[in-house]
Amino acid sequence: MTDNNILELEIEDIEGIGPTTAKKMREAGVNSVMELATAVPDELCADIGGSKETAATFIMAAQKFLRESGVLDNEFTTADVELEKRKSLLRCSTGAKVLDELLRGGIETQAITEFYGEFGSGKSQICHTLCVTSQLPVQEGGLDGGVILIDTEGTFRPERVDQIARSRGLDPEQILKRIAICKAYNSSHLELIVKSIGKYIDDFKAKMIIIDSVISLHRAEFAGRGTLADRQQRLNGIMHKLVRIAEIYNVAIVITNQVQSSPDAFFGDPTKPAGGNVIGHASTYRIYLKKAGNDRIARIIDSPYHPYADVRFTVNEKGVDDIESDSPKTKRGAKDKDKDKEDEAD
Ligand SMILES: Nc1ncnc2c1ncn2[C@@H]1O[C@H](COP(=O)(O)OP(=O)(O)OP(=O)(O)O)[C@@H](O)[C@H]1O
Ligand SMILES: [Mg+2]
Repeated sequence: MTDNNILELEIEDIEGIGPTTAKKMREAGVNSVMELATAVPDELCADIGGSKETAATFIMAAQKFLRESGVLDNEFTTADVELEKRKSLLRCSTGAKVLDELLRGGIETQAITEFYGEFGSGKSQICHTLCVTSQLPVQEGGLDGGVILIDTEGTFRPERVDQIARSRGLDPEQILKRIAICKAYNSSHLELIVKSIGKYIDDFKAKMIIIDSVISLHRAEFAGRGTLADRQQRLNGIMHKLVRIAEIYNVAIVITNQVQSSPDAFFGDPTKPAGGNVIGHASTYRIYLKKAGNDRIARIIDSPYHPYADVRFTVNEKGVDDIESDSPKTKRGAKDKDKDKEDEAD
């Protein structure tokens, strides 16, 4: 979708942007029409001065430009056109067939897929596996592109990717070369990385962007009640930017999130995602992960079109994988909900 002609365009080509404004934008890291179209008004306004309205006008002008060039869809389409478009979306295999079925074909491009769950529920294992599967050719269930992985918890292990690639009969050397790792050290650093991610998507020809996890830094730094509003506002900035990035760059975005309670806390619902509405509203799909003995259970929450269902998968040397004995236990419906109560004891 990132057409070469569009990449060559300068921000001065957008109506109303003169050399001075363009210079300020470049100093703030906004180097292309694509980057301008994905900017957040508040941030842009802080960077270039002037009013928020002016900043918003520039962003909308850049989006309009992309629409006219066919990079972005028109604001209004008919439902049949939308259905055709959805059929052509790429979907990336998670590595486990049951999980792909749960997601109706895999992780979608132009969407944000959120995995949340307790520690050890398999969030980072899914991220490691996606680093491998997303590089497969499209006909084999991949996105045929590079991967950008933003690690905020220091849990990314190239050795694990090597093992997953080998176990899947792939060349680990080739796979590791196409994964760009970025370690985010604090919340401001994460915000900065997300802000400038457009450039890296182009540089690494990335089709999959993973943030593991999106909330840990903000959660740790904005601990007190008094700072909650500030934290939410900053998370909101990240999420809004991600929504636009997914659409404009046609990439799949995967984020992980924690649950509200931590092992040392007495309060909080261990089945509720952290981050409140800010993350929930921006995520296209939310998947809750839970440990169940040696297996894992995945459940899709509040999806616009997925039926309520649970699936069971496992974690092994291939990363996330189907449970070998594909018994009826691996696919369960709403009537099996009661069984979860037993699993809760695991
Ligand atoms: N090579 C492996 N083979 C089999 N299982 C593995 C392997 N590596 C990790 N695991 C399993 O994955 C679990 C860790 O899962 P993961 O790191 O994805 O948790 P998480 O949901 O990211 O937790 P956190 O919230 O702490 O980040 C381990 O407890 C182990 O059961
Ligand atoms: Mg993890």
